Amino acid sequence: MEKKNLDWSNIGFGYVQTDKRYVSNFKDGAWDEGGLTDDANVVLNECAGVLQYAQTVFEGMKAYTTEQGKTVIFRPDLNAERMVQSAKRLEMPVFPEDRFVDAVVQTVKANEAYVPPYGTGATLYIRPYMFGTNPVIGVKPADEYQFRVFGTPVGPYFKGGVKPLTIKVSDFDRAAPHGSGHIKAGLNYAMSMHAIVTAHQEGFDENLYLDAATRTNVEETGGANFLFVTKDGKLVTPKSNSILPSITRRSLVYVAKEYLGMEVEERTVPFAEVKEFAECGLCGTAAVISPVGKIVDHGNEICFPSGMTDMGPVTKKLYDTLTGIQMGRIEAPKGWIKVVE
Ligand SMILES: Cc1ncc(COP(=O)(O)O)c(C=O)c1O
Repeated sequence: MEKKNLDWSNIGFGYVQTDKRYVSNFKDGAWDEGGLTDDANVVLNECAGVLQYAQTVFEGMKAYTTEQGKTVIFRPDLNAERMVQSAKRLEMPVFPEDRFVDAVVQTVKANEAYVPPYGTGATLYIRPYMFGTNPVIGVKPADEYQFRVFGTPVGPYFKGGVKPLTIKVSDFDRAAPHGSGHIKAGLNYAMSMHAIVTAHQEGFDENLYLDAATRTNVEETGGANFLFVTKDGKLVTPKSNSILPSITRRSLVYVAKEYLGMEVEERTVPFAEVKEFAECGLCGTAAVISPVGKIVDHGNEICFPSGMTDMGPVTKKLYDTLTGIQMGRIEAPKGWIKVVE
């Protein structure tokens, strides 16, 4: 497969239109057989459910070229399963999990020329999503939906080296108890825009959201779960019903236990405990782990001993092991790597 002539190391994280995308439509209670199309545009009625009442859910994952030159996708079955949970919560039809994985594989295969070569640090970001398409004016679920998958090549996350983040404890809440924080729905991101724009204007990289009920426990940021490392080398990660169940976090917990022999605690993390930790990181598909150097709570600074220039040593080991698994340098647990053939 001849690759596109793109400047892989400098493409950044933006939309690059690729050749093919997958589309399937839901009508009269059933999904059609679906397939690939060249048309990157979606034309909708002015009153479509997604436009009026934000009935849309999505997923994000990556395809890589391994050291052996294979194109692989990391754990798409978990994205399929998470999208089922997201769809059910918004009263949308479920796109069958096996069909989801097949649609992702078809999309990656049709755009293999855009899957960045091994060693560039770049990857193909894959975006499956679903939305209500028919006119809806009274508040109720749509009857018709479209499921789509596209891919876009994205550059290396740590271009020019790792730079630990500075995070602000947000005055806004991300998710209510018993709300929609645990699903990947556009509505959770629409309402986070004001908080992130405000944080950026104040010079912060990200927001740390506390739990909305008590404002005492760490939840997550707008796009990643938290990882902490204790001074005696344990991995601690917040457990909450209102955070997104990150696939990267679940994978890192497994890697910590089974590959690195670490002790792991998945539990409520009081914000008051954060100053005791040795390392902090954010985990998600985009960066795998971004180290956090500093958290600022209304003028009070928590500076992690790992500092503002590097990843902490335990964070680095976790990062190297998981990226090693993704890139084919380290043997993966069974079922984690979907090879595109
Ligand atoms: C709110 C939120 N939390 C966590 C994550 C990380 O999840 P994953 O590791 O599945 O990418 C994401 C990104 O997908 C996110 O948007």
